[in-house]
Amino acid sequence: MKIVMLGAPGAGKGTQAKRIAAQYKIPHISTGDIFRANIKNNTELGKKAKAYMDQGLLVPDELTVDLVMDRLAQEDCADGYILDGFPRTIPQAEALDRALSAKGEQLDRAVDVDVPDDSIVNRMSGRRACQGCGATYHIQFNPSQKGEFCQVCGEKLILREDDKPETVQKRLSVYHEQTQPLIDFYAGKGILRTVDGTKEMDQVFEEIRKVLEAE
Ligand code: AP5
Repeated sequence: MKIVMLGAPGAGKGTQAKRIAAQYKIPHISTGDIFRANIKNNTELGKKAKAYMDQGLLVPDELTVDLVMDRLAQEDCADGYILDGFPRTIPQAEALDRALSAKGEQLDRAVDVDVPDDSIVNRMSGRRACQGCGATYHIQFNPSQKGEFCQVCGEKLILREDDKPETVQKRLSVYHEQTQPLIDFYAGKGILRTVDGTKEMDQVFEEIRKVLEAE
């Protein structure tokens, strides 16, 4: 199964994509996680990406598309994958389409996790992220059982630099301008499914599972 997750920053794409990946035994490919790993390792790509991410802007398509295409060419993607945070612009979506068509393949579903902007700001300020393993928590809705530390790997949890309220507002406006048009793009292909992302996490997961398994 080849799935794209759509939704505003903080809508819960990452939370749900990890669960779907585990359920269907497919790799979870998050461009945000790939960029953050590069920033942590101080790579050239990481240095370039950080300058955009810290401002709430998108990393340019030319840095993003090849990175994803290389990842999709790896062996573990042969039976499918879930893309989280990619594509984020129409040119990225078109590049993905071209790469899939060249192999006679296509996406199965694009799942839009729908959450209004006012709920997003609250979610982001409460999110805590692990710099070690990438796990995410929420101080209210999904706290770590180890308090300020990751319950998976034990590293200290942080508030992401781009989760500060002023940057979240910028990310939301970038989302509406550059990423939301993908909803119509995938609706036009007949593969878009929208789920209500304001519900409790387990309910959102059940809804996603249903739309993935429906004909
Ligand atoms: P990225 O990491 O992809 O960030 P994002 O899309 O802004 O999404 P987030 O990770 O912030 O949120 P999410 O929807 O995954 O929500 P989560 O599950 O964590 O990208 C970061 C940056 O990298 C971008 O701004 C850009 O600069 C760059 N970038 C990445 N990809 C790019 C691309 N393709 N092109 C160009 N640039 C790119 O949930 C949020 C919080 O809410 C958590 O605390 C969670 O516990 C909680 N939560 C989740 N679900 C629920 C629920 N149902 N109820 C209550 N709380 C919930």
